[in-house]
Amino acid sequence: MILEGIVTTVNVDGSVNISPMGPVVDDERIDRLVLRPYQTSVTCQNLLRTRQGVFHVTDDVELIARAAVDRLDEVPTLLRCETAQGWILADACRWFAFEVREIDTSAPRARLRAEIVDRGPIRDFFGFNRAKHAVVEAAILATRTAILPAAEIAGELRRLAVLVEKTGGTAERRAFDFLDSYIREATGTLDAKEIADEPQPAAPAAGQRP
Ligand SMILES: Cc1cc2nc3c(=O)[nH]c(=O)nc-3n(C[C@H](O)[C@H](O)[C@H](O)COP(=O)(O)O)c2cc1C
Repeated sequence: MILEGIVTTVNVDGSVNISPMGPVVDDERIDRLVLRPYQTSVTCQNLLRTRQGVFHVTDDVELIARAAVDRLDEVPTLLRCETAQGWILADACRWFAFEVREIDTSAPRARLRAEIVDRGPIRDFFGFNRAKHAVVEAAILATRTAILPAAEIAGELRRLAVLVEKTGGTAERRAFDFLDSYIREATGTLDAKEIADEPQPAAPAAGQRP
C-alpha cells in the first residue's frame, strides 16, 4: 500500500528539504517504508548521503501542492527530531523518523528500504475530503508536466476543478488555483476554469456518428 505524505531531509548546507513522497508501507502500523524517489530528486540525493529523514502524514494539501513544485511561500515551522538526524513538520498529523538500511539505484527511480526508528502523533487528521484528494492529484500532475501530454493534464484538471468547487474550503481552492496557474505556465495551456468556460463541441444528435 502506498501512503502519500511529506519527507523532510537535510541538504548539504544544513537547510531542510521538504518534498511530497509516496512510500510503500508494510501495514497500518508502519514499521518500514520503501521510498521510491527519482535519483534526480534532492530527496534521493540527501537520503543517499545522510540515510536519514522524517516521513509525515498530513492533511495540509496546500503544503503538499507548494512543496511538490518547490514553491513554498514560507518555510513551515520545524521541530528538531531528538532521536534521529532530521526535522519534524510541527503542523503534521503524525511523523515517522527513518533510517535507510538498503539502497537499490539500478533504475532511475531508486528503491530505499527504511526502518522507522522513532515516531509521534501531533494532531488529528481532518478526514476524507474530495477537494483535498483533488489537490493531491493536481500536485502529482504538476510534477509531471514534462512527461504527460498537455491536453491530458488539462482534461484531468478540469475534472478535478469540479471536486474542489463542490467540496473545498479556502485552503483547497487556494492550493488548486496555485497549481492550475503553475501548470498553465509550465504547459502554456489555458487554466482549468477558462477551459470549463470554453464552448464545448455540441453533443451529436441521436443516431449521428460522433
Ligand atoms: C502526493 C505526491 C507523491 C509523490 N511521490 C513521489 C515519489 O514517491 N517519488 C518521487 O520521486 N517523486 C514523488 N513526487 C514528486 C516529488 O514530490 C517532486 O518531484 C518534488 O519536486 C521532488 O522534490 P525534491 O527534488 O526536493 O526531492 C510526489 C508528489 C506528490 C504530490
